[in-house]
Amino acid sequence: MIHRQEISTLLQAPPIGTSVTVMGWVRAWRGNRFMVLNDGSGVETLQVVVNGEDFSEETIRAIGFHACVGVTGELIESQGSGQSVEVIAKEITIYGPTDLSEYPLQAKSQSMEFLRENAQFRMRTNTFSTVFRLSHALSFATNKYFNDRNFYNLHTPIITGNDAEGAGEMFRVTTLDPAAPPRDEDGNVDYSKDFFGKSTHLTVSGQLQAEIGAMAMGKVYTFGPTFRAENSHTSRHLSEFWMIEPEIAFADIDNNQDLAEDYLKYLINHCLDNYRADLEFLDDRIKQSEKNMKAELRRPMGLIEMLEFTVRDDFARITYTEAIRLIQGSKPYKKKKFEFPVEWGTDLQAEHERWLVEKHFKKPVIVRDYPKGFKAFYMRLNDDNETVAAMDILFPYIGEMVGGSQREEREDVLRARMKEMDVHEDELAWYLQLRTFGGCPHAGFGLGFERMVMFVTGMTNIRDVIPFPRAPKTADF
Ligand code: 4AD
Ligand code: MG
Repeated sequence: MIHRQEISTLLQAPPIGTSVTVMGWVRAWRGNRFMVLNDGSGVETLQVVVNGEDFSEETIRAIGFHACVGVTGELIESQGSGQSVEVIAKEITIYGPTDLSEYPLQAKSQSMEFLRENAQFRMRTNTFSTVFRLSHALSFATNKYFNDRNFYNLHTPIITGNDAEGAGEMFRVTTLDPAAPPRDEDGNVDYSKDFFGKSTHLTVSGQLQAEIGAMAMGKVYTFGPTFRAENSHTSRHLSEFWMIEPEIAFADIDNNQDLAEDYLKYLINHCLDNYRADLEFLDDRIKQSEKNMKAELRRPMGLIEMLEFTVRDDFARITYTEAIRLIQGSKPYKKKKFEFPVEWGTDLQAEHERWLVEKHFKKPVIVRDYPKGFKAFYMRLNDDNETVAAMDILFPYIGEMVGGSQREEREDVLRARMKEMDVHEDELAWYLQLRTFGGCPHAGFGLGFERMVMFVTGMTNIRDVIPFPRAPKTADF
């Protein structure tokens, strides 16, 4: 049996003068005497003083950057500055030495790209272990938030025959031989011979199935992986990402906006209240990295300041039509600085969204009532017959954080919209039946989990907030 104490717990009330046993990975090894140890339990490190004469040369040689060691020794008030306590080593166990001539990582700071390629080790860096602790925090807080408000968690399918968003950006799931699939009389691949007896894909969203839950259990949410085969090489898109999708009965677009704003603020507050040390570490990291940047490239606020500001203030709420008017009145629009056109009827591009949140409102913005032309078939048609009760929540640095809507509960209107948008009725007969039998006004939204992790950690590339990123041409590990 192995006994050890966790560093973050130990440092909460350090038992000065007692013997402690800690185990972890060496973050720094200075002057063959000072070992900085971290065990992942928190961002905190513990300094271990190693007196050379007490240990074999072999042991001293094995201590090195990212080596895995166990230490037993006396915890004392620190003699040096920089830490309050330290351990005087009495026994050292080398669990896993790292031969530094072979080890891919070095003690100097590494590029984000290099660490991504070496994801088997990147969580050993302060930055990444901190990011993934906060990712856990957001996941835990999500379940707590919904549980405490009588929402039930539903596991919606990962393999599905439906394209929820109707965007056709799906990964096919098949066991047919790609070189010689069975074909029908017309020469098309015959998916009735496939594993499920039909054409199937990885899900892009659990929403349509969550609606089944809401129409019986009132308030449900899904929290699972979703997959999109869009060829986006941006710092905000993944091919495999996690989404949280609450779906609520007896709710309209206003209820939906309130729920989303409250939930997002709750997530941020949970991190501010429980992960202060991690946030301070990241805040400091960003300030350091911005030191040599031009003033206009630096963030206008520190990370913690930004998070506190976000929870304190109301999100701005506007309609799509107002958003277009604002953008058309903006300086970059007049100076023709935007790459994409801005006119009523076209979707907002990232550059427009970022102008709205970062330059104009300087805080999160909820935009609602988008033209029906570029939104999904299930969104409720507004009385103007031109717009739908959709809402996007836009965040500084991120752009679209949440997408949601009130759902079309009127069967005839839904049927007509499906026809208009070429969504096949036969595949979604069950979805229409939810309207025919015992339907009601309902609404929901999807939060891109990794985008929220980006906002809370201040990381600038979405590939650095998921342990093993999947993106075009990237599926290692
Ligand atoms: O706006 P989206 O496509 O909405 C839906 O899928 C709805 N079914 C949600 C609902 O109403 N239940 O996606 C929702 C969110 C986006 O706002 C964005 O944050 C995130 O998912 N997202 C992505 N995150 C990372 N990589 C991608 N490729 C993403 N695509 C969407
Ligand atoms: Mg969207």
